[in-house]
Amino acid sequence: MSQSQLLFTPVAVGRHLLRNRFVMAPMTRSRAIDETGAPDDLVAAYYAQRASAGLIISEGVFPSAMGKGYVRTPGIETEAQIAAWRRIAAAVHEQGGKIFMQIMHCGRISHPTLLPDGATPVAPSAIKPEGQAWTSAGQVDYVTPRALRTEEIAGVIGEYRRATRQALAAGFDGVELHAASGYLPEQFLSSGSNRRDDQYGGSVENRARFILETLAAMADEAGGDRVGIKISPEMNYNSITDAAPRETYTYLVEQLRPLGLAYLHVTQFGAETDYHALLRPRFPGAYLLGGGLDQVKAETALAENRADACVFGASFLANPDLPERFRQHAPLNTPDSATFFTSGAKGYTDYPSLGGSGA
Ligand SMILES: Cc1cc2nc3c(=O)[nH]c(=O)nc-3n(C[C@H](O)[C@H](O)[C@H](O)COP(=O)(O)O)c2cc1C
Repeated sequence: MSQSQLLFTPVAVGRHLLRNRFVMAPMTRSRAIDETGAPDDLVAAYYAQRASAGLIISEGVFPSAMGKGYVRTPGIETEAQIAAWRRIAAAVHEQGGKIFMQIMHCGRISHPTLLPDGATPVAPSAIKPEGQAWTSAGQVDYVTPRALRTEEIAGVIGEYRRATRQALAAGFDGVELHAASGYLPEQFLSSGSNRRDDQYGGSVENRARFILETLAAMADEAGGDRVGIKISPEMNYNSITDAAPRETYTYLVEQLRPLGLAYLHVTQFGAETDYHALLRPRFPGAYLLGGGLDQVKAETALAENRADACVFGASFLANPDLPERFRQHAPLNTPDSATFFTSGAKGYTDYPSLGGSGA
């Protein structure tokens, strides 16, 4: 088989057989979310347009209102939210696609104005991140979060369990734990944001415990073969730092083995360490490689057996028919970053497909 065909071959990912090796990356779009935190029909249209991916991973979805970190982002906590997501899963399935829900608790990357009753964001430790939150009043400085008490942590893990159950009830094909980009799971994992002295802090075994217990709860609900995890070693986004990232991620990935997860999704940008080379051999399930891919890089990664499937973010956002464009070596639409997080159809469902226009 020629290298250019590899993206178009089916691949097993946990319980599912994907029709090709294109994965649409999870992307927050802060769009069309009504006041109940439920996505509307425009969101369904957006995902349905992109259903020719082998797998869509949804935008980050908060498991509980305390996990919300950005304006106009959706949840999977209430009946109204579940009902809304049910229409989206159905719209993707009608097009023959598959969709996992990314469960995203932002932890300290939030702001009291985004949280119930103006609550202080929670985190492993009371360490304020650099930067500003995106709120309905524009960008405002982050605040110092409140450190979760040891006895509260089981409750937070329970929220991920319930979110998993509810995503499946909404018809999703599986769930992804967002343990990348400096949100709550990575805040626990990383030495710079976790100064705890209980069983969830200190040694790498303790710092990884939150992620491992959360995944165990999610796998208990869904079966490990419908659960994936996303990590982004050394991306250092959202003020994340770790004293020994190679050791941290090697340990974490080795501990995933007994969970029988569907996939490990790794985004790498810029780090000196080749994390794909380091981590892929240590993980028995499907390996999803992402971060700055174009057609040639993706085909090369598959040909060199560095990945089982390739994850495309901005290029899928701007090209609803990305697989067909690659097949034809057609020109690509350019992503418009000015409309990544704005409201409405512009820059969302109006990117044209080949030979047609956006909805
Ligand atoms: C608009 C936008 C929103 C994003 N939101 C999320 C998110 O909610 N969850 C997540 O894990 N990554 C998110 N990302 C990161 C992407 O999943 C992906 O890792 C990144 O864009 C790199 O892939 P690319 O170079 O193909 O775009 C976002 C990226 C973009 C462009």
